[in-house]
Amino acid sequence: MTNIAKKISSNVVYHSATVNRPRREKLLGHHGAVLWFSGLSGAGKSTLAHSVEEELHIRDCLTYVFDGDNVRHGLCGDLGFSLDDRKENLRRISEMCKLTADAGIIAFTAFISPVQKDRQNARALIGNEDFIEIYCKCSLSICEERDVKGLYKKARAGLIPDFTGISSPYEEPENADLVVDTGSNSLEECTNQVLGYLFRRGIFSTK
Ligand code: ADX
Repeated sequence: MTNIAKKISSNVVYHSATVNRPRREKLLGHHGAVLWFSGLSGAGKSTLAHSVEEELHIRDCLTYVFDGDNVRHGLCGDLGFSLDDRKENLRRISEMCKLTADAGIIAFTAFISPVQKDRQNARALIGNEDFIEIYCKCSLSICEERDVKGLYKKARAGLIPDFTGISSPYEEPENADLVVDTGSNSLEECTNQVLGYLFRRGIFSTK
C-alpha cells in the first residue's frame, strides 16, 4: 500500500509570481488545458493524444503528453495496479497537470483512469475550465483482439493480476466532455474530432 499524501506541510507559505498565467498565455497565444483521455488499455489513448499533439505543435502550441506507461517508469514507478495505487497515480498526475495548465501548456494525459470517482477528483482539482475529459470508446473485445502489447493474453492466462477489463473494473465515463469512437473511427477522424472540439472551446485559435 502506498503513502497517499493527505496533509499540507506546516510552515509553507504560498509565493505569488509576477509572471502569471495570463502573461504566459499571452506569450504562447493559446490557453493552458488538460485533455484527460480515459479508456481501456489498447483503446488508442496514447496514439490519439500524440496525433492531436502533432497537429497542435505545427500550429505553434506548447504541448506535452503524460503517458501511463512512461510515467510509471519514473514519477509513479513505485505504484502498482490496485485501485488504491491507481488512485494515487492519478492524484499525482492531476497535481502535475494543474501546474502545467498554470504554465499555459496544453497537456494530454493517457491513463486508463478506470474509476469514475478518481476522474471526478481530477476534474475537481484541475477545475472545469481547464479539464477536458475525453473518453476513448473501444470495446474490450476490440482491445483484446488488437492486444498490441500482448498483455490481454497474459491477463487471460492469469499472469497479470488486476488487469483492467479482465480482473479489475473499468467504469465508463458518464459525463465526458467528448466521446471519441476509437474502436471504429480512423485515427484521422478521431484527431479531427478532438481538434474541432478544442477549437470551438477556444483553447487555441488559428493564427
Ligand atoms: S491507471 O489505471 O492507473 O490509469 P495507467 O494508465 O497508469 O493505469 O497504466 C496502464 C498501462 O499499464 C496499460 O496500458 C498497460 O500497458 C500497463 N499495465 C500493466 N499492468 C496492468 C494492469 N494490471 N491493468 C492495466 N494496465 C496494466
